[in-house]
Amino acid sequence: MKSFTSLRGLTRSTLMDLIESSIRFSERLGRHEQVEQELSGRAVANLFFEPSTRTRLSFELAARRLGAEVLTFDPPTSSVVKGESVRDTAQTMAAIGADILVVRHSMEGTPERVHEWTGLPVINGGDGCHEHPTQGLLDAVTLVRHFGDVEGLRMGIVGDIRHSRVAGSLAHIMPTLGVSLTLVGPGSLLPEEDPLGVGRSESLDAVLGDLDVVYLLRVQQERGVEVPHDYVSQFGMSGERAAAMDPGAVIMHPGPINRGVEVSDEVADGPRSLILAQVANGVSTRMAVLVALRDGMA
Ligand code: CP
Repeated sequence: MKSFTSLRGLTRSTLMDLIESSIRFSERLGRHEQVEQELSGRAVANLFFEPSTRTRLSFELAARRLGAEVLTFDPPTSSVVKGESVRDTAQTMAAIGADILVVRHSMEGTPERVHEWTGLPVINGGDGCHEHPTQGLLDAVTLVRHFGDVEGLRMGIVGDIRHSRVAGSLAHIMPTLGVSLTLVGPGSLLPEEDPLGVGRSESLDAVLGDLDVVYLLRVQQERGVEVPHDYVSQFGMSGERAAAMDPGAVIMHPGPINRGVEVSDEVADGPRSLILAQVANGVSTRMAVLVALRDGMA
């Protein structure tokens, strides 16, 4: 693997290899075992031009656990404030000695461009409203660890799907793994077109009882999207709605969560919630992706 910028087109076999690698790392870390220092002598640079807690910190820990050096770039204290471009920043990181770049940027396609500019393996840490492939992968890991066999699961993605890069990645990985998707939200937050060819509903209550996984998304207010006035009453995951779900059904959310908007405290912290399991699986999943890229390096 030369870069990891999208889940589009990845085969079930490739995805299962990554998922199994993540689970092996997770089990070893859970036993507090030292993992092989597969990135010893390598440097991983985090180029996050947008804020992040989970993705950036879990990449840092993943890289360190594999023995890599970590270069962390912080835009407000970098030469970006003097006008340095993304291209010059990326090429500077390469010249400093980075071997792998993790890139988050508001403009779609930036990770691919950084790969073209530097020739280095690039991992997409989230590009605009396009994709967030390690999030989609860690979500698949979370489902496999929880359910075992995911073939035939029914997932509803609820909320601001139109502006969600997480939904963009879930749309590729879940059908490949045999998970069916239904997009749920107000018309203004559903995709204008339906290139995914999956079901959609403007009523959460109409589909709730048919779902094994309710995947909640945050309304992307930082992209100028307003929360519809009736959003909480129509799409908020309350305790009452959680009680109407199938007994074995689960709640997921990529974070950060807006408590009291897309999910209540009671549900976020309740027994159906896999939200913190998703975060925990982020470290081992990013370790799996880093090793796959190392294996693809010349
Ligand atoms: N899920 C996710 O991408 O979270 P962060 O923005 O905190 O990295």
